Amino acid sequence: MKDLYDSIFHRKSIRKYDPDHPLSQEELDSVLELANDSQSLIKGIENTFVLTDKRLPNVRFGQASLLCFSQDRENCLLNAGYRLEQVDLQLAQMGIGSCWYGLSRPTRKVAGMVYVIQLAIGRSLENWRKSADEFNRKPIEEIWSGDFDSDVKQAVRLSPSACNSQSWRIESSEGCIRIYRTAAYKTIIPTGMKAYFNTIDLGICLCHLELALARKGFRFSSELASPCEGDPVKIAEYLLH
Ligand SMILES: Cc1cc2nc3c(=O)[nH]c(=O)nc-3n(C[C@H](O)[C@H](O)[C@H](O)COP(=O)(O)O)c2cc1C
Repeated sequence: MKDLYDSIFHRKSIRKYDPDHPLSQEELDSVLELANDSQSLIKGIENTFVLTDKRLPNVRFGQASLLCFSQDRENCLLNAGYRLEQVDLQLAQMGIGSCWYGLSRPTRKVAGMVYVIQLAIGRSLENWRKSADEFNRKPIEEIWSGDFDSDVKQAVRLSPSACNSQSWRIESSEGCIRIYRTAAYKTIIPTGMKAYFNTIDLGICLCHLELALARKGFRFSSELASPCEGDPVKIAEYLLH
């Protein structure tokens, strides 16, 4: 994966776009290229990315949408979150606005694939963040138990999530990081949709975790947990070497 660590501290959901200065065709092409070049979390899950040529009727902002379709396989939501967060971080770096958008589903279909999620994109009228102080997030103690490198903890804490739900919970002990997803928080996300969006969120969180581990010089291997019931649900385990 490209080193996108620095962008973690500056990215932002952009919701105000400049209708008078749309992205050029060259910029739009580069967005699609970034998506196609993003690294998968799970080998063997194919994605198709579609860039619409204008804003979709049910999307409230942006000039265009980057739609993510996936093979309907185990952990495909985690994989989509992991891949599109690389795009989100790179767009912030390039000064192109983006915002995850779960509120609407496109009518567009791709044969053999299921629709997962989209990023609204366009020319931003907002500024990106200057530092971690500008993020509205839970205190680190609420999401991470155990000692670990404070920069890695911070990078995970700043991950974006649907309705800012921040459903990731992390435990670290000697040489091991365990990542869980909880549904034990209040939200306006309908109960039946929580696991769907929060699993995408966890893919985003794994992207931030891996970028930070790599930047801080940790060598690691990871294993995804098998899907299970209960709360919290174990998502992955990272072993440090
Ligand atoms: C899976 C997912 C779906 C989202 N859906 C929407 C959406 O439909 N509309 C919206 O305005 N923001 C949406 N967001 C953006 C979140 O509200 C935002 O990431 C969160 O509040 C944190 O703010 P930040 O991204 O500026 O750091 C979504 C984010 C994620 C990760």
